[in-house]
Order: sequence, then structure tokens, then C-alpha cells
Amino acid sequence: MIVDLLIQHATELVTCASGGGPKRGRDMEDVGIIPDGAVAIRRGEIVAVGPTAEVRERVQEAKRVIDARGRSVIPGLVDPHTHVVWAGHRVHEFEMRVKGATYLEIFQAGGGILRTVRDTRAADLDTLVVETRERLDTMLLHGTTTAEAKSGYGLDEDTELKMLDAIRVLDESHPIDLAPTFLGAHAIPPEYQDNVDAYVDFLVEHMIPQVANLQYRVEETDEEGNIIYSGYRPAAHYCDVFCERGAFNLEQTRRILEAARHHGMELKVHADEFEPSLGAVPLAVEMGAASVDHLVSTPDEHLRVLAQSNTAAVALPGTPFGLAETGYTRGRRIIDLGGILAISTDINPGTSWCESMPMMMAIATRYMNLTPAEALNASTINAAYAIGMSDFVGSIEVGKQGDLVILDVPDYRFLMYRYGVNLVHTVVKKGRIVVEEGRLCTT
Ligand code: NIG
Ligand code: FE
Repeated sequence: MIVDLLIQHATELVTCASGGGPKRGRDMEDVGIIPDGAVAIRRGEIVAVGPTAEVRERVQEAKRVIDARGRSVIPGLVDPHTHVVWAGHRVHEFEMRVKGATYLEIFQAGGGILRTVRDTRAADLDTLVVETRERLDTMLLHGTTTAEAKSGYGLDEDTELKMLDAIRVLDESHPIDLAPTFLGAHAIPPEYQDNVDAYVDFLVEHMIPQVANLQYRVEETDEEGNIIYSGYRPAAHYCDVFCERGAFNLEQTRRILEAARHHGMELKVHADEFEPSLGAVPLAVEMGAASVDHLVSTPDEHLRVLAQSNTAAVALPGTPFGLAETGYTRGRRIIDLGGILAISTDINPGTSWCESMPMMMAIATRYMNLTPAEALNASTINAAYAIGMSDFVGSIEVGKQGDLVILDVPDYRFLMYRYGVNLVHTVVKKGRIVVEEGRLCTT
């Protein structure tokens, strides 16, 4: 066969292959290493994977060949929980926290999320796109090829729609594929501080039906202009709620999730980020949510319920790290119970401004007691599952998108062992080289 790209002689090719679906329990220890591995991509899709000698027998001609000797090749990383679209920054709050103020104190005093809401309302679409694109570029440089992206810094109709529009523009123009989430229930907007239920009414009766019906047309082409995808995408695939003291209580969370489900959206919940647990996990599981995220204060009985379900557990280790807190999601426990564990950056201007999934893996191996293999599976195949994309991305398997990362090191475990530096050499998105020698080649 004739292929567009052949990567061969990788010291190790780490496939994270699952044969379909997410990984649980002992399977998390298996990352599917092929020594002296090769992968071939045609028209954006993986067409052969295996030892170099075998793949070469099947490939007659390759338009481009990369020799990955001395390097480890892993799937493109998937970041399944991001607030990457925002305007401005909150560096002054960081200093307040370093000096002793808590995140919830700042939030309840009208800072925190509401500060970013003010800045995001004031920014026009172009500004929002430009500021966010820089962060997406940094994510790509650190190996992320697919990410979820939430609204939630508007909390009014115009700005929430502007944020979803920014996600659309970036999804179309940036190599990272974005899975859009409507997070109108991220905080109580200033206009509704004394009447939270009225804001929930507004979300349930007005915003959710409107957002659920918004679609846009997309067409994707490969390097030669062949159409590789054509169809409609929803402006928001998921609806998410921040269920927390000072944000939305359990009953309000239920109303919002029910409305979203009624209108055909998939569900996600920010659950148990802080103490005390409000009990969002059993609710989300009962409602068939795609994922529950954070899970820092989740009681063990709720982790058991979660582990029995098909709802993914998304841990965000950058958040306790960013807030200098000592409680982390009990990732080890979730895996041991048989749950579907994914990890994510939660990138946002308040709790975790970090674009790097390798940094999350470094933290997860230290504070969530994950092995390097578990951390990688949680950042690839299981992360893809958490955003409903594990049929297309998250592993190096025939039929999946040609999304992969070549590391500057011969063993993927260096990703967790070394931290705070970027070990990514090359990034390939849908068969196209988008980062080379650690530098962006597109956008
Ligand atoms: O996941 N908890 C709510 N949302 C974010 C923080 C957003 C912000 O502080 O701007 C989180 O930690
Ligand atoms: Fe979040």
C-alpha cells in the first residue's frame, strides 16, 4: 500500500490499544508496547501498526518517512476537561491565595470565576479567540491533540453563545479537535445572586433548549484537499454543572441535567471539588452522565457506585496542586474498584493554569498513586472515552485518526519521571505534522 506518513524504528511504540472502549482495573497496567515499532497513516487515518519489519512489508511507498530511533511514540494526548476559553488573568488572586486566602473565600467575595466573567463579557470574539489560541498552541506543543472545551465565563446569553462560537472558530482553525460543553451553570451570575432558582429557570427554559438546537456545518480536508469529514456538529455536545456550595445545589443540578438530557445533550458534572460532598456522584450516575469530574471529597460509597457504572471519573490533579491543597482524587482507589479513570488539566485562570498533560501525569503518579502506565492510559484512551471519542482517538490502532506524539526520550515513563520540561519532539494530527523539533509548524 501507499501511505502518506510512515514512522518507523521507534525504540518503543506505545499503542494504548484497548480493542474498543475504555480500560478498567488491571488493563490499566497495559500500554501495549511494541519494541522497534512502526505506524503508517493514509488520508489522516492509521492503516498499519506493528513491529517495523512487519509494517514495512505492507507499505510499498511512503510519501514521508520519519525515523524514530531513540524515541518513544505515544498516542496524541486527550485533555477531557478544560476551561481554556477565557479573557484576562487572575494573577493577583494567586498572590492572595499564597498569602492565605482560600479559593472559596475569594469566589464567595465576588472574585474568582466572576472576575473572569467580567473580563470575558468585555472581550470581543476576536480577542477571545486570539487569547485562547495561544493556550491551544501550548497544549499542542505539549502533546495534546484533542480536548474538551467549556463555556461558563459568560453566564448571560450573549457571552455564553460568544464562547461557544469561539470554540467553533478554534475547532475549525486549530489542529486540536475540540469537544464543546455548555457550562452555563458554572457560577451564579451577579444579576441573580439573590435568586439562584430564577437563574436555573433561565437555563432550563431558555438557554438549554437554545444551545441544544445550535448546530454548525463542518467539512475537513486532508493535505491534498480530499474531504475526510463532512457533516453537522452541535455547538455543545455536553451540558455541565458546577455542583458545589456557593454554586449549584443538588436539586438545582438535577433540574439542569434533566433539562439537558431532555433536549438530547450528554451530561457532565463538576462533583465534589471541595468539602463537603453534596452527593452529585450518585445523581450523575443515575442520569447516565458521560463523566463526573474532580471527585476530591467523594465518599467511598459513592466511588463504589461510580466504579460499577459506565460514567468516567475525571481527576484533575492540577487543581489541588494549583491551590496547594493536600487532598487529591483517589485515583488508585477508583482503578482498584474497577472504575474508568481519566485525567485532565482543568486548565482555567483560577485553580490550574497549566496546558501540559505530562505535568498532570507527573502529579498523578506522585499524589494519586498511579503507575506510569495507568497515568498514560488515563490521558489517552480513557480520556477519549470521557468525551465520547474513543472510537476515533486515544490509541494507536488501525482505523483511528493518525494522532500521535514522538517523544525526545526512549521510554514513555520519562514523561512522569521528569517534570516541568517539555519532552515532546513531534506531534502528528490526522496524519499531518503540526509540531516538529518542539516547534509549531502550523497556525
Ligand atoms: O474546575 N470549579 C469550577 N471551575 C473551575 C475553576 C474555574 C475558575 O476558577 O475560573 C475548576 O476548578
Ligand atoms: Fe473545571
